[in-house]
Amino acid sequence: MVGNKEKAPKTYVTDLLTGILNRNVLKNVTHVENVKLADDGRSIVILDQSALPNRTEYLTLQTLPEFYDAIFTLKVRGAPCIGIFAGYAMSVLARQIAGELELSGAVSSEKWRSFINRLSELGGELNSSRPTAVNLSYAIKRMLAKAESLVAENQSSAESLLNELQREATAIHEEDIEMCRKIAEAGLTLIKDGDGILTHCNAGPLATSRYGTALGPILLGKERGLKFHVFADETRPLLQGARLTSYELSKAGVDVTLICDNMASIVMKSGKVQACFVGCDRVAANGDAANKIGTSGVAILAKHYGIPFYVLGPSSTIDMATATGADIVIEERDPDEIKNKFYAEPMALPEVKCYNPAFDVTDHELITAIVTEKGVIRPPYKEAFTRLFK
Ligand code: MRU
Repeated sequence: MVGNKEKAPKTYVTDLLTGILNRNVLKNVTHVENVKLADDGRSIVILDQSALPNRTEYLTLQTLPEFYDAIFTLKVRGAPCIGIFAGYAMSVLARQIAGELELSGAVSSEKWRSFINRLSELGGELNSSRPTAVNLSYAIKRMLAKAESLVAENQSSAESLLNELQREATAIHEEDIEMCRKIAEAGLTLIKDGDGILTHCNAGPLATSRYGTALGPILLGKERGLKFHVFADETRPLLQGARLTSYELSKAGVDVTLICDNMASIVMKSGKVQACFVGCDRVAANGDAANKIGTSGVAILAKHYGIPFYVLGPSSTIDMATATGADIVIEERDPDEIKNKFYAEPMALPEVKCYNPAFDVTDHELITAIVTEKGVIRPPYKEAFTRLFK
């Protein structure tokens, strides 16, 4: 083969080597430690997403006000990441409550009742930090249910109950890693080498664990030597697309182009986009999907240009208790995020009114498929979800 300019045929070995090499390059992105429980189980270390891409700062948090603030100010953000964080937060809070109530060894049933009541009260406060993503309430409810069942079994010492709760929080995290991997695999079946993909907001490793949801197929494909071109909407007003998606993809060596939100139409019209991939914060029983503000506009454009629009997320994001998108509570945030936050000077007069919804709902008719760890789900969603959860 020396001097032969033709490409050597791809073999199993070259594929394997490419995979190993790419995985190592990607590891800095896919294995980012965005949320980590401290070794003693008494605090949580987070990568402050509000400081990215300019500063990589880690914060150690241990009190309810700190946990609340981290979620409210988007230091921890992205639906699955918020869920993982909330699981650990409940475990840390349980240890604090046990300390306050001086629980140790065998505990009386009255003391256990006080423990559960207090944990439920603090969980309720944490849950009020952001209303839209189902993952927050899912993790809090799951941790509370676990605590209640351990107490009901009536065989736990304080220490073993706290350790069991910590294990439950770790399980939420580990399940997310597994689910993201499966979502990435399923999503990868929908695109091919060389495709252009448009994404909105950030649903990568920072927002989840490992591969992410909407960015999962792109990162997994990259690991396997596939090349995609990604258009990342900047995602006004908090710029998760600019600050986080373009940061993650460019660090991973993926060909990414940042565009303003109002440029999606021209890019789609040019034929450079073969699919749209977005994450989700809550999917209603009829398939309506809440995601970052601006997502539904992207879906409408995609329909106009005949481009498939995919929503990717763990099946735990499907909320069968919410009938339609109209029942999803949409978080409204401070007008300051529109007028001041990222500008050297205010961009509007102080008296100008602002409307700042953080999410919108994409109607199920606009969604080509919903990709979960259980595979690619196509309409009609109501029937498909019913089968899924049977
Ligand atoms: O306000 P954010 O940054 O938490 O919003 C994030 C999104 O809308 C994401 O697309 C969604 O949470 C899915 S993350 C896998």
